[in-house]
Amino acid sequence: MEEQFEAAKYPTSIAGIPLDIPIYNASGVWCTTAVQLSEVIDSPYTGAVVTKSCTMYVREGNPLPRYSGFKPVYSSSNANNASINSMGLPNYGLDYYMTAAQLVKNTNKPYFVSICGMTRTENLQMLSILQHQPTSISGVEMNLSCPNIIGKPQVGYDFDAMDETLRCTFELFDRYPLGVKLPPYFDPIHFDMASDVLKRYPKLGWVTCINSIGNGLVVDVFNETTLIAPKGGLGGLGGCIVKPTALANVKSFRERLPAHIDIVGCGGIMRGTDIAEHLLCGASAVQVGTLIMERGIDGFQVLYEEFDRFMREKGYDSISDIKGKIKTISSSL
Ligand code: DHB
Repeated sequence: MEEQFEAAKYPTSIAGIPLDIPIYNASGVWCTTAVQLSEVIDSPYTGAVVTKSCTMYVREGNPLPRYSGFKPVYSSSNANNASINSMGLPNYGLDYYMTAAQLVKNTNKPYFVSICGMTRTENLQMLSILQHQPTSISGVEMNLSCPNIIGKPQVGYDFDAMDETLRCTFELFDRYPLGVKLPPYFDPIHFDMASDVLKRYPKLGWVTCINSIGNGLVVDVFNETTLIAPKGGLGGLGGCIVKPTALANVKSFRERLPAHIDIVGCGGIMRGTDIAEHLLCGASAVQVGTLIMERGIDGFQVLYEEFDRFMREKGYDSISDIKGKIKTISSSL
């Protein structure tokens, strides 16, 4: 008889919500349709699911091609380990993702709804619906960092706008734990400024670091074209090339925010040790994007098994053995 996969091997929590496994999908990846959401939920190697960022109503998104994997360094054998996208928020609307929450009934897997209104008003409209809707939702991830909508700057790069959005949010919404998805920051002053805003909201449950590195450009030199069509080829970068930036954001926010705000790491998780790196920097759990786009749902099993092997080799048996334990290398001078 086939051995049963033993769940709850590395339990963790996000804003008090328990996860059996600290690994799930990044919003936007394998989570737009109910079928995809079910596949993430049914995988024994995920600890939660988050939906595609949604708007009030259905959106078609940007013209195709709008996603492409690529290899940042040429290699004939390796699969794509980086990505560029400018999807433009294709989604089925808030109602659809509230209804799909039924899919986690009879499971103990947290279901997070990601919202990304085109305006602050639209975010508040969605929150006021979520506030009064009886569903199996576990939490809401408010996306403050979509880089792909023409004429809509990322809220996370405007600290006053972010402050006002959070002020309005917590004034009307307290039904479920709420976290925010942040864009990557690249300067310690910006880590300070963003943290100063976030610290004003004691009800904030977690921050997810990072969204894609916005508005990169990848060139197909042979064909002399961009890889994707929208925005003249500009799009959000993901995969191995963003991992150092993601880790810097995870560590910097972990150092600045109070302990009750969890950090969810996202960015560049292509193998099990990448999960360990995010946890070392202070993440409570991780989300996986490019790897799942490129390898499909089976990518979670590969990742889990690699992570498990790493933990066993180190003699660790729980997340607390590794979380936040990174040391700065000692200086020899
Ligand atoms: C999209 C991309 C993002 O990085 C995001 O946070 C939300 C939406 C998109 O293009 O659909």
